[in-house]
Amino acid sequence: MRTKIRVLHGSAMDAAAIASESVDLIVTSPPYPMIEMWDETFIAPDASIGRNLAAGKGPAAFESMHCILDEAWRECDRVLRPGGLACVNIGDATRTLSGDFQLYSNHSRILKAFLDLGYAVLPDILWRKQTNAPTKFMGSGMLPVGAYVTYEHEYVLIMRKGRRRRFQDAGEKQRRRESAFFWEERNAWFSDVWFDIKGTPQALVTEADRKRSAAFPFELAYRLVSMFSIKGDHVLDPFAGTGTTLSAALTAGRNATGVELDASLVATCRDVLGATPGFANDYVRERLVRHMAFVRDRVGASGPMKYVNRHYGFPVMTAQERDLLIPDVLQTERATADELQVEHDEGPQRELAGLWENERWAEHPAATGKGPATGRCRTVPLPGAPAQQAFQFDTSAVRSATSR
Ligand SMILES: C[S@@+](CC[C@H](N)C(=O)[O-])C[C@H]1O[C@@H](n2cnc3c(N)ncnc32)[C@H](O)[C@@H]1O
Repeated sequence: MRTKIRVLHGSAMDAAAIASESVDLIVTSPPYPMIEMWDETFIAPDASIGRNLAAGKGPAAFESMHCILDEAWRECDRVLRPGGLACVNIGDATRTLSGDFQLYSNHSRILKAFLDLGYAVLPDILWRKQTNAPTKFMGSGMLPVGAYVTYEHEYVLIMRKGRRRRFQDAGEKQRRRESAFFWEERNAWFSDVWFDIKGTPQALVTEADRKRSAAFPFELAYRLVSMFSIKGDHVLDPFAGTGTTLSAALTAGRNATGVELDASLVATCRDVLGATPGFANDYVRERLVRHMAFVRDRVGASGPMKYVNRHYGFPVMTAQERDLLIPDVLQTERATADELQVEHDEGPQRELAGLWENERWAEHPAATGKGPATGRCRTVPLPGAPAQQAFQFDTSAVRSATSR
């Protein structure tokens, strides 16, 4: 299978290079209104925002910032197919202006924008982030009534354009079956609170770039892409930042387009995509090995499972997981300055074949619990496997293609 990943240098408010109704899923996180690191981003197109902030007129500045984002949501609506989903990661802001502290509810304002566009709002996910910042306790300390609740969560808002998507032809139905997730993943991923999302791996993006762009973790993007699109779909991130969504889409076998205003982050996106193939193949192996560890524990506790996955030969909980297939990235090649072409294997990882039978997988760090935490992959070959030789991906081509 072949997919394309594009990085466009430009504005989310005008994505003319993206055809109307050509996108199946949007996964994004915009600049956050009323969070100071993004003030300049909003003041640049609307100087009145700076004046209102200086005058302590928080609600007016907040509304003007969202009016700018509304333009991006209208552009998203133009490019999204009917039945497509938009997943928007956003945090609310707390801020003191002219001595008055208050919450600016970004998530409710963005929901309103999508409701105004006629979208159906679906149940959202609360992403629980823990902060140990010294400013954790805000307000009047131990004295009532001026102490404030500590904000340690963000939202993933999920909105649908029009009616539910229908899968039409046989090819699309087969791609959907192959894009299934494991039963135990479904239980975690479709929970309304995510406690277990770890940071973006250093293998993909430096800490400095991550902070500068407020990048979300790879695992967050990978889950959303896997939950709400199928292989071969087109995923858009109109505020691409360091390219986390694009990297997740590449890993999951989706086409993707990212739009980013900051030229230096466009270059970072290209670097991230260059590092993604090796990372992706490790990540997917860990996912498969985690499933095998789950099966071992489950069978030990509750007896045999009813179904077998036809590609990997390991047991699965439901009939819907029988066709699940997560192949390697074989090769990436730069087609144009903007575009990376990706070739995915057609079948399962060769060194995984028969591994369930001989139980060598159980030595893998992901199965022993000594492996990297979710979303923090490093190269861990499967025990007994001929390391990376079983597959080849042309990272040198990617590196030269993406060098600035
Ligand atoms: C919260 S960050 C997104 C981070 C991204 N999810 C990641 O993982 O790296 C928002 C991004 O939007 C970009 N941005 C701001 N205004 C933009 C615009 N009008 N069009 C496109 N990108 C914009 C910023 O430069 C920043 O990289």
